[in-house]
Amino acid sequence: MLLLVVIVSILSIGSLNGDAVIQAAFRACPGSSGSIWTRPSYCPADPSNNPPQQTEIMDLIAWTWNTAPKEQACPFGLSRVLLRFDQMTDVIPQDAIIRSATLKLFGVGSQQVNGYAFSYFANSYLNAYAPAHYGPNRVNITRVTQAYDMATVTWNTQPSSQGPPAVIPESNMQFYYNIAVDVKSLVDNMLAPGTNNGFLLQFEVEDYYRSMNFFSSNTKDDSKRPLLEVEYIVSCKGSATKDVLLEAPIVNVKN
Ligand SMILES: *[C@@H]1O[C@H](CO)[C@@H](O)[C@H](O)[C@H]1NC(C)=O
Repeated sequence: MLLLVVIVSILSIGSLNGDAVIQAAFRACPGSSGSIWTRPSYCPADPSNNPPQQTEIMDLIAWTWNTAPKEQACPFGLSRVLLRFDQMTDVIPQDAIIRSATLKLFGVGSQQVNGYAFSYFANSYLNAYAPAHYGPNRVNITRVTQAYDMATVTWNTQPSSQGPPAVIPESNMQFYYNIAVDVKSLVDNMLAPGTNNGFLLQFEVEDYYRSMNFFSSNTKDDSKRPLLEVEYIVSCKGSATKDVLLEAPIVNVKN
């Protein structure tokens, strides 16, 4: 039996049997990202029941609203980001083997406000201007494990998610912080029917002051929209081995 396995493996290396390594790139479709917000329940205008605004930015922000400390009236607000690539599972077969998966996000920039560079975006929940990327802002990316509707989801109805997380490292610049994160371990578990519910992004420590703002799925500049690059193997027999993969022809599928 062992001998047989070895022989099959060697034959596979020597003669391509039709297995293919495919490189695909998926841009987040409009409407497939959003920020959900919360503030302490005693605050006026608590956004915990508000669905995401369809803006050009996905904001991860934990900040004070006033200059007051957290213990005082309504100083603190916090967001998380939901992001999906629904088309991925329209393309990648359920029994494909993921070889690599990389999430690329494009950091927002700055504009000059009274001589200072601030994030050029501030939404209705956060009227304070903040640098686009600030503070000890490591971000956990986990796999969402429940279906939800981006148009109606809120902080209070947010889906559950599962780690261990992929991590966006703390930013090394305040603006235009572009990142590429290895999300293979998350995408590995997104191919079965009903399991591609995307990603949840949240600060590793959800306390102020920190911000991490990326262009969203809705930004007008297509090249800035979130990108998921996946390299995967489709096997003739559904039994590709590591040896086969190295020999297989690569097919590029550009979005
Ligand atoms: C982020 O991930 C780390 C490591 O798994 C964990 O210790 C931390 O609690 C996570 N943060 C949140 C807010 O879930």
